[in-house]
Amino acid sequence: MKVTYYGHSSFLVEINKTKLLFDPFITPNPLAAQIDINKIECDYILVSHGHSDHIADCLAIAERTQATVISNYEIIVWLQARGLKKGHMMNTGGHWIFDFGKVKCVNAIHSSSMPDGSYGGNPLGFLVETPKKSFYYSGDTALTLDMQLIGDYKKIDVALFPIGNNFTMGVDNAVIAAQFVKCDKIVGLHYDTFDIIKIDHQDACDRFASVGKDLFLIPVGESVSF
Ligand code: NI
Ligand code: MN
Repeated sequence: MKVTYYGHSSFLVEINKTKLLFDPFITPNPLAAQIDINKIECDYILVSHGHSDHIADCLAIAERTQATVISNYEIIVWLQARGLKKGHMMNTGGHWIFDFGKVKCVNAIHSSSMPDGSYGGNPLGFLVETPKKSFYYSGDTALTLDMQLIGDYKKIDVALFPIGNNFTMGVDNAVIAAQFVKCDKIVGLHYDTFDIIKIDHQDACDRFASVGKDLFLIPVGESVSF
């Protein structure tokens, strides 16, 4: 599987010949100024929760690519009222078998309102299993003991975690989360975008390395294959 980073918590996963885009927040992000959303191709867009720093470019990309948006019930209804054609509603604890593999919605400890202030349902994390690789994107979340269920449930090849602190867990708790899900390869998200979530990259990598784990801080626009 190949992961391309578009800044903040936005990334593209190419797996089983399918392109999955997560939490598109690109045009409002100065750190992603070099990314042209009109050049992003995707088959699915997965949205973890309704905050604008996760959904800003969702409708524009979905309209152009005709991608299917996967999110919770409330977010899909909100997007459909604004023109979304293809949406797949899910909610916490449920899974669905898509053509690329299985998506299970898991608990995230956060909030979820839409950019206009309306109710956004419960925030989600996504566990994606395919015959080749499996990964876990926690969404914006605190560290939670629920993550131990994920590691017991399935071998995770890559975990993608917020590490910027303040709005989500920071590096210290993300290290524990990596231990809870028994995953050695972590992609860092939700850091540096705003002053309040700026992190020390070397210190973050050192903290993961101290427990035998690799933290990948992928430069915006670049890709890593796992
Ligand atoms: Ni959020
Ligand atoms: Mn966020």
